[in-house]
Amino acid sequence: MNVTVVGSIMVDLVAHCGRYPARGETMAGESFAIVPGGKGANPAVACMRMGCAVTLVGSVGKDPFAEIALAFLAQSGVDTDRVYRTNSSRTGTAFIVIDASAENTILLMRGANDDLPVDVLERSSDRIAGADALLVQLEISLPVVERAMAIARRAGVPILLDPAPAQPIPDHFLALADFVTPNEQETKTLTGIDPLTPEAAAAAADALHRRGARQVIIKRGSKGCLVSAGGQRQNIEGIPVRPIDTVGAGDCFAGALISAWLETRDIFQACRFANVAAALKVQRSGAQSGVPLRKEVDEWLKTLPEN
Ligand code: RIB
Repeated sequence: MNVTVVGSIMVDLVAHCGRYPARGETMAGESFAIVPGGKGANPAVACMRMGCAVTLVGSVGKDPFAEIALAFLAQSGVDTDRVYRTNSSRTGTAFIVIDASAENTILLMRGANDDLPVDVLERSSDRIAGADALLVQLEISLPVVERAMAIARRAGVPILLDPAPAQPIPDHFLALADFVTPNEQETKTLTGIDPLTPEAAAAAADALHRRGARQVIIKRGSKGCLVSAGGQRQNIEGIPVRPIDTVGAGDCFAGALISAWLETRDIFQACRFANVAAALKVQRSGAQSGVPLRKEVDEWLKTLPEN
């Protein structure tokens, strides 16, 4: 199974603290780490760990952070041949604060991620058109995302669009994708509906279908996810765990989802698999280092009643 991811590559500067500092306040944190991240690179690693071969198309600078990001990707087995190196910007950086409840707040400097030229993407069209699936998100420029989806669609390659981070997008973005996987905040941005209950999530999924989305998976954090596809709807319960780091949980979900779907062609089964992968991820630190191994997901999945 070959997956191509077109998306962002970041280095995450992560501080843990008991509570968020108030505006203007200076306070001591509890721990700090510099780890690889990015909404494109994170699911690329997740797909690798779930057993796919992965090409990542993205952009980094020519600075030491690029080495941190690329070294982990290479070590994970992700093909980074199509990663563009720009002279004009620094590698993308995310300033992340995680509080005692494992919730996170992120300030992004997208840097080099905004420098990925459409013509570099064209030169990678073989990897997009030749893949079994394409994964895209919204942490790089929208014309690049749109072009990647157009190349995949023309070649009949299934597309998963994770509309993250939250921002308005035109309807045809939703219509180009086979799977759309917003979290609660992104759902609210795209539909105006806060999917706090399964009923609200179903109403939001309907709104996304009306805008052109085919298969909608609304990620509801610890509450699980709502899957709306092929005229069927299923609410998959969250798995009770004690989270320590939720950064990249949605990215892990997306990577696990597409990997499982490629094997089973069953979106409901794939979402149950992704739900477990994300529940394992939130118990570990790091958007990439915290992604579980395939066998860990399989083993836990076997213990759940509905499987
Ligand atoms: O989705 C989590 C990711 O968002 C982090 O790794 C950070 O880099 C930001 O891009």
